[in-house]
This record gives sequence, C-alpha cells and structure tokens, in this order.
Amino acid sequence: MLSKALVGAAIAACVPGAFGFAPAGVSLMKTRSLSLRGPRMAGEKVGNVNEIPPGERKITKVGDQDVMVVNHKGTVYALSPKCPHLGLPMKTGEISDDGPCIKCKFHGSKFKLDDGKCVEWSTGVLGIPGTQALGGFIGNVGGAKNSPATVFAVEVDAEGGIIVDTSKTGRSGVAA
Ligand code: FES
Repeated sequence: MLSKALVGAAIAACVPGAFGFAPAGVSLMKTRSLSLRGPRMAGEKVGNVNEIPPGERKITKVGDQDVMVVNHKGTVYALSPKCPHLGLPMKTGEISDDGPCIKCKFHGSKFKLDDGKCVEWSTGVLGIPGTQALGGFIGNVGGAKNSPATVFAVEVDAEGGIIVDTSKTGRSGVAA
C-alpha cells in the first residue's frame, strides 16, 4: 500500500503547484491552467469580464493579430475587427440580437458572432437608401462573396480573465 507521503509526492510531481509550490524549474505562472470552468485552453489573456460589461467591446492584440472582444448580453465573443470583404474596420459596427450579428457599416454586410457566418452580403453603401445596386456591384470585389468573418475561440477563467486563442477559428462565444 502506498503511504500518504508517497501519494502526496506523486500528486505534487504530476500537478505542479497543487500544494502551493512547484518543483524547481517549474513556473507557478504556467501551472494556473486549471480553473473551476475546466482546463484552460492555450491562448492569451486579453482582459477581464469586469472591464467589458454587456454592451461593451474592446479592441486589443494577440501577438500580431488584432482582436475585438465583444460582450453581447453576457456572452463574450472574439473576432477580427476587420470585415472579410474589404478588410475595413467593424469596431463600431452595430450588433443585433439576430444571430447575434455584427454589421460592417460600409456595405451593411452582417456576420454572426458565434461562427462568423455571413447572413447578409454588401447590401448597400454606408446605409444610404437606394444604393443596393452599387452595394451589390462592390460586393463582387475584395473577399469572396459571403466570406465569413474570422472568429476566435474564447474562454473565461475562474478569475474572470478573458482568454483568446487565435489559433482556433470558426467558433466563438462563452458565458461571462
Ligand atoms: S467593406 Fe465591410 S462589407 Fe464591404
């Protein structure tokens, strides 16, 4: 039978920081990957949910990648702040409950926040009435028609830290 000391040593070796210390050469900073919400994914902390209450958004960077973090009604999403059509900024784009979606204000294209899917493509120019034909024409240049927005995996850790992993795209959204 294993002694308690032997079991404790085995846990300490397998779970650095389990007892508030780590073996020599192992940084405690790297051991804070376990949270009440489960194992933390790879990625970078971009802020805290307290800084981005519902209705707010933040533009930040993860490495060289620009990232927009959006809190829509208590769900946090992360996406590229540039639309996939002409790469113009969506940081002030209107967010609607259907989807929910974000709209590129230049041509009215709408993209779902959870998977980036395009639900409307270049429906006009700057919201000016009667510009649908021009919007449709412009929609044929730049990114491929109906291209999705780039959304990133996001997670909130036990301390409310927002973690974005730009290596994982196509799915976003987590309860704040
Ligand atoms: S520039 Fe954003 S949809 Fe055209």
